[in-house]
Amino acid sequence: MKVISIAGEKGGTGKTTVAVNLAVEAFHDGLKVLLIDADIQGSAFMFHETRQETKTGGFQTIIKPSKTLHRQIQDFSNFDLIIIDTGGRDSSVFRSAITASDYVIVPIQAGQFDLWSLSRTVRIIEEATKFKDIRAKVLLNMVIPRAKIVKDVISALKNAEIDFFSTTLGLRVAYREAISAGLGVTEMNKKSKASEEVRNLWQEVKKWANLG
Ligand SMILES: Nc1ncnc2c1ncn2[C@@H]1O[C@H](COP(=O)(O)OP(=O)(O)OP(=O)(O)O)[C@@H](O)[C@H]1O
Ligand SMILES: [Mg+2]
Repeated sequence: MKVISIAGEKGGTGKTTVAVNLAVEAFHDGLKVLLIDADIQGSAFMFHETRQETKTGGFQTIIKPSKTLHRQIQDFSNFDLIIIDTGGRDSSVFRSAITASDYVIVPIQAGQFDLWSLSRTVRIIEEATKFKDIRAKVLLNMVIPRAKIVKDVISALKNAEIDFFSTTLGLRVAYREAISAGLGVTEMNKKSKASEEVRNLWQEVKKWANLG
């Protein structure tokens, strides 16, 4: 069982979008996947409800905005992969989700506010690593091609020695439309740019987290 949380203090960076799309990829790759929605907003859970209406299914989703997730996680050891979608605040639920994880993916948009918020998130993850070996990587999301700010943010990440995925996700309407349909972007249109990005991201995540 590997536990990956999608986390970050900042709201609206794409955590739920990344969580559900990775869950879809992992399921199509043959893994037994559990998606835990640890956000009281319940967005990932609602995505799954929509998904079930379309009879796509494929993985289990539960809502558990719990402060003791790090202890409860062992109850789900029959899954190959657990993806935790967290809320965008520094709460005890958020900290518990990080402590429950082996790996943390932090989606950010390329912007100064995101970098400021990222340094706080990194500190929280570092605190948790005192108790457990947790690895974290940043994912650049909603990237606008050729924007100078993207290059600046990448330089800032390198200077701060913060690890990041070489795959980035572009700002694309496909990500929004797929959520409304209860689908992963690869299920909606295999040939879209968003599909290519998500497939590349899944390959990177799989290697990083030793998922076979
Ligand atoms: N790459 C993308 N391209 C276009 N829209 C995106 C992309 N990623 C996310 N979005 C959209 O941005 C909005 C915020 O995304 P999402 O809900 O996944 O963020 P979040 O980090 O989970 O937010 P919260 O902190 O509220 O939980 C949503 O409308 C989503 O559809
Ligand atoms: Mg969310």
